Amino acid sequence: MSERQRILSGMRPTGPLHLGHYFGVIANWLKLQEEYDCFFFVADWHALTSEYADARRVKGFIPGLVKDWIAAGLDPEKCVIFQQSKIKEHAELYLYLSMFTPLGWLERNPTYKEIRAELTHKDLNTHGFLGYPVLMASDILMYKPCAVPVGKDQLPHLELAREIARRFNHLTGTEALPEPADMLTEEAKLPGLDGRKMSKSYGNSIMLSEPIEEIAPKVRGMKTDERRLRKSDPGDPDVCNLYPYHKLMTDPARLPEIREGCRNATWGCVDCKKVLMDSLERFLTPLQERRAACTDERAAEILALGNERARAFAAATMDELRSILNY
Ligand code: TRP
Repeated sequence: MSERQRILSGMRPTGPLHLGHYFGVIANWLKLQEEYDCFFFVADWHALTSEYADARRVKGFIPGLVKDWIAAGLDPEKCVIFQQSKIKEHAELYLYLSMFTPLGWLERNPTYKEIRAELTHKDLNTHGFLGYPVLMASDILMYKPCAVPVGKDQLPHLELAREIARRFNHLTGTEALPEPADMLTEEAKLPGLDGRKMSKSYGNSIMLSEPIEEIAPKVRGMKTDERRLRKSDPGDPDVCNLYPYHKLMTDPARLPEIREGCRNATWGCVDCKKVLMDSLERFLTPLQERRAACTDERAAEILALGNERARAFAAATMDELRSILNY
C-alpha cells in the first residue's frame, strides 16, 4: 500500500450534478485526489432510505453520477470510485454496528430531525431512515480513513460515526476502528440563479451536463443587484448574484474591470451577463467533452474496477472485525 493517508466520501445518486455541487464539493475532491488515497463512492443504499417506495428508479441515476464525476475531473487512476451496494460488507458492518448503537444517539441527531420535518411528502418513519447514520458509519469505518470531507449538514452523522467507533473499540477492548477527523468543505460559494441556495428543487441551477444553448436564456434571466434599476445606476458587485459566478469562472485578470464597470455604471448587467456566458461556456465545454467521451460502458468499467479495489479492502476489515467479535 502507498504511504498516503486515506480519505473517503460519498454522494447519493439522486440526479444530475449542478455547478453548486461542483464548487461546493467536487472541486475539493479534485484537490484531495492529488494528495490522498481517495475512496469516492455512489451511496445507492443511502438513496434508498428516502426512495424505497420507488426503489427501481435509483439505479438509473448511477451512470450519470459517475459520468458527472469523470466530467468534473475525478481520475479513476488516482482514486477508487465504487458503488456502495456492490460491496456487501457494508451491509454486514451495518448490522454489527447497529448492535452497538444506542437508539437515543440516533433519535437526537439534528440532521435526522430536520430532514424528517422537511420531507413531509415521504414517509420517513422507518427503521432504515433512523439508521441512516449507522449505515454511513459503516461506509466510513470500513476503510479506516484519516478524514471524511463533508458539508456542514453531514457533521452530526460524522460525529455519530466517531461515537460508534469509540464504543466499539471500548467494548471490544481494541483499536480496530480509528476515529476519522472531519474535513469541513467550505460553504457553497455559488448561489443559484435567483440568489437562493442552488438546488434542483428550486429550479435555479445550471447542470454540469446542460447544453450551452439552454444555459443562455437562464443567464439572461439571472437576478443581479436589485437596487440597480437602470444601467445609469451604479451597482455593487458585492451584493450582486452574478459576481460570485465571475469570481469562480471568469479570468481573474478581468475582475477589476467588471467591478469598476458595475460601480461606475459604465457597463450594464447585460454586458456583465454576456461575459459570464462566455466564461460558463469556456468552463463547461471541457467538462462536457469529457462527459461525452465517458460512455455507459466506460462508466460501468470504472465502477467495476473501483468495486474490486474497495471489496478487497472491505474484506480485510471484515475479517479483522469478525475475528474480534468471534463470528
Ligand atoms: N450522507 C451523505 C450525503 O447525503 C452521503 C454519504 C453516505 C456519505 N455515506 C457517506 C458521505 C460516507 C461521506 C461518507 O451527502
